[in-house]
Amino acid sequence: MSIAEKFVSMEYGPAPEDPKEATSWLDRHGRRFAHFINGQWHPPAAGEYFDTVDPSNGEKLAAVAQGSVADIDAAVKAAREASPKWQSLTSHARARYLYALARLVQKHSRLLAVLETMDNGKPIRESRDIDIPLVARHFYYHAGWAQLLEQEFSEYVPCGVVGQIIPWNFPLLMLAWKIAPALATGNTVVLKPAEFTPLTALLFAELCQEAGLPAGVVNIVTGDGRTGEALVKHPDVDKIAFTGSTEVGRAIRAATAASHKRLSLELGGKSPFIVFEDADLDSTVEGLVDGIWFNQGQVCCAGSRLLMQESIAEALTMKMQERMSSLRIGAPLDKAVDIGAIVARVQLERIRKLVDQGVAEGATCWQPQVSLPSRGFYYPPTLLSNVHPTSVVAQQEIFGPVLAAMTFRTPSEAVELANNTVYGLAACVWSESTNVALHVAAQLKAGVVWVNCTNMFDAACGFGGYRESGFGREGGREGLLEYMEPAWFKKAPALKTEFSVLSSQFSEKPENAGDSRDQDSIANDSPSPAIDRTVKLYIGGKQVRPDSGYSMEVRASDGRLLGEAPLGNRKDIRNAVEAARKASAWAKATAHNRAQVLYYCAENLSQRRDEIAHRLADIVGEKQAAAEVELGIQRIFSYAAWADKFDGAVHNPPFRNIAIAMNEPIGTVAVICPREAPLLGFLSVVMPALAAGNTVIAVPSETYPLITGDLYQVFDTSDLPGGAVNIVTGYVSQLLKTLAEHDDVDAIWSFGDEATAASAKAMSVGNLKQVWTNEGRAIDWFDPKLAEGRWFLEHAVQVKNIWVPYGE
Ligand code: NAI
Repeated sequence: MSIAEKFVSMEYGPAPEDPKEATSWLDRHGRRFAHFINGQWHPPAAGEYFDTVDPSNGEKLAAVAQGSVADIDAAVKAAREASPKWQSLTSHARARYLYALARLVQKHSRLLAVLETMDNGKPIRESRDIDIPLVARHFYYHAGWAQLLEQEFSEYVPCGVVGQIIPWNFPLLMLAWKIAPALATGNTVVLKPAEFTPLTALLFAELCQEAGLPAGVVNIVTGDGRTGEALVKHPDVDKIAFTGSTEVGRAIRAATAASHKRLSLELGGKSPFIVFEDADLDSTVEGLVDGIWFNQGQVCCAGSRLLMQESIAEALTMKMQERMSSLRIGAPLDKAVDIGAIVARVQLERIRKLVDQGVAEGATCWQPQVSLPSRGFYYPPTLLSNVHPTSVVAQQEIFGPVLAAMTFRTPSEAVELANNTVYGLAACVWSESTNVALHVAAQLKAGVVWVNCTNMFDAACGFGGYRESGFGREGGREGLLEYMEPAWFKKAPALKTEFSVLSSQFSEKPENAGDSRDQDSIANDSPSPAIDRTVKLYIGGKQVRPDSGYSMEVRASDGRLLGEAPLGNRKDIRNAVEAARKASAWAKATAHNRAQVLYYCAENLSQRRDEIAHRLADIVGEKQAAAEVELGIQRIFSYAAWADKFDGAVHNPPFRNIAIAMNEPIGTVAVICPREAPLLGFLSVVMPALAAGNTVIAVPSETYPLITGDLYQVFDTSDLPGGAVNIVTGYVSQLLKTLAEHDDVDAIWSFGDEATAASAKAMSVGNLKQVWTNEGRAIDWFDPKLAEGRWFLEHAVQVKNIWVPYGE
């Protein structure tokens, strides 16, 4: 084509990035890679390799080791051996390693970007300008945390050996999100990259060598799902961090339930992209390009559901189609390409199948007239309109460049549609009205909300999901906490299964245990006859009879019958959940209001202190009873104090944006209260959940469920809205299953024995609810340093980051 002709057509010419440096790196390794274990390259124990291919042309790039159980075992051993020394380094020494890694990522950024594009198929523009700079930023940011760790987290210790499993959509970036916080907090790591994209992780292993990182601190074992499974099941791993599909996330939840492994899951999404009629439509279209066509739509937080206000739907659709027609699809190493290749043939087939299904369900499919390269795995940008909200393409993650469009009329309809998904990873809101945008953002069930922007990420801003998009956060201060535990908790002894009193000062037997006094003298001492109390369930602010009509006898430690408590069943739990769901006024109440109500609770408990202590003494002895009441009042005071102080944060990412990190309540939390301190234990776990704005279904101590009667009197007289706290007495073994399997319960907290903790986790697999347990360990409820404060509140909230741009 002559220059004159080019002036007329204004066509882009090809602008390919030179792959030479990457291909010579591959050649240097003979295009065959072993595992990186204990600072050295180890061929796979079983001698098995698999190919990784360039999705832009389907050609083999290299053979990579398939990790076996033996390889994983060797890597975990290396990580375990390296752990004590790595933990004993000073904060500053660890910070220097992270800093060195950040520098090396920058130094080799071109090679990393090209290799990433060759292995994954993403446009070089994206790996060069987004992925790799964010990788470096992550290591710099966490080098900073490593430096500050001793000052800021002196009470915490690392989990130990961490197993990390990552997906193929952002191979090196996901590695950075996992490895940087783990190392900064003193953990050692075994990481398994995705089978489609292992190469940049192997190059990163070389950077670890170059940085002089001690052997065994980072181990990289390549392989497919079987290798991941071996890592998840390895008994000497203390934590698993996973990013990938919800299906595998569920399998990992189930596989780790019976262990003490900490778990964080970053799973799929079906994020809404909401456009109001006052939005700047030209900016919105550019936002959509980033929202759904970035990385070929293979983004967990892709804005894959477009919700348009009816009045602008037509105009926006036209603008969008025009823009889609100008998107350039082609060889990902071409610097002028917008859309590269899909990662693998199987993923391409998955996208095709889902789009066909959507069309069969009534959607209209529109694609621009583009020619796709003849080799490799490509899919054109696609718009599905007339999509019904229940259609498979509106509900399932497609993980491809496919946008499903719907319309709405009012803001409340937009919120309803947006939240009509099992996921809750991210959302976008486009409106020129800050009031509307922030009002809607607050109502969206999503871990990240971008206002008038899309797919913004920064190491300082936590990222992670609500609901079936997983739990735990990556990035920010909250991300660090995923890799640490309070030092005392890690050392805490197992809870004795028989009734036990924990604090040493109360460690003698309950006062009248084995009391040899005759029944008459006991009756004379008591203000009331022996069988005086029959409590009820407390649901929706009312005392109600149990559905079953049965009750359990409650006996003192000397065998005297103290009263009867109802045996709650499935129906009672369902009623309690419904009541808790309806009590949304509690979450919406201002923090000041919640504090006031909690202060009233403390006041009312204080007024009844003597009678409550007297009754409780029958079970735990006078000393413990008096202490439970006294400390119980103090504990409520503490959470009343915290209610309006456990604030979020405002982050300043390195763009013209602020990110408002809100501490939002999780929703409805089911709490299995500790047996060993019937009053104080109840208050220690229910009050933080309430203070943070959750509604609660509590199963009180099986040892003394009669405490319910005292508690509902306190709540009834304290202006606590009906349904904010519901109490269902009965056997944990019978109630837990219904609570764990109930889709409207958002979290389970269990403070019982080890078996109960394991059951809570195993039974919560269904809707992947957040589970927090004592792991069957003893918590000294009488020590405020351990039994109250931030650690409890952190579990009672989930952070939502709302990104708002500023400037023109
Ligand atoms: P996947 O969830 O199977 O793979 C993610 C990682 O988990 C890979 O490293 C894989 O080897 C590993 N893995 C697989 N089975 C495992 C097991 N049983 N135990 C431990 N680790 C295991 O995702 P896949 O098959 O690559 O993609 C399927 C779909 O998942 C995609 O179409 C997309 O919808 C979704 N996905 C979502 C991602 C996200 O970031 N949310 C990332 C990747 C996929």
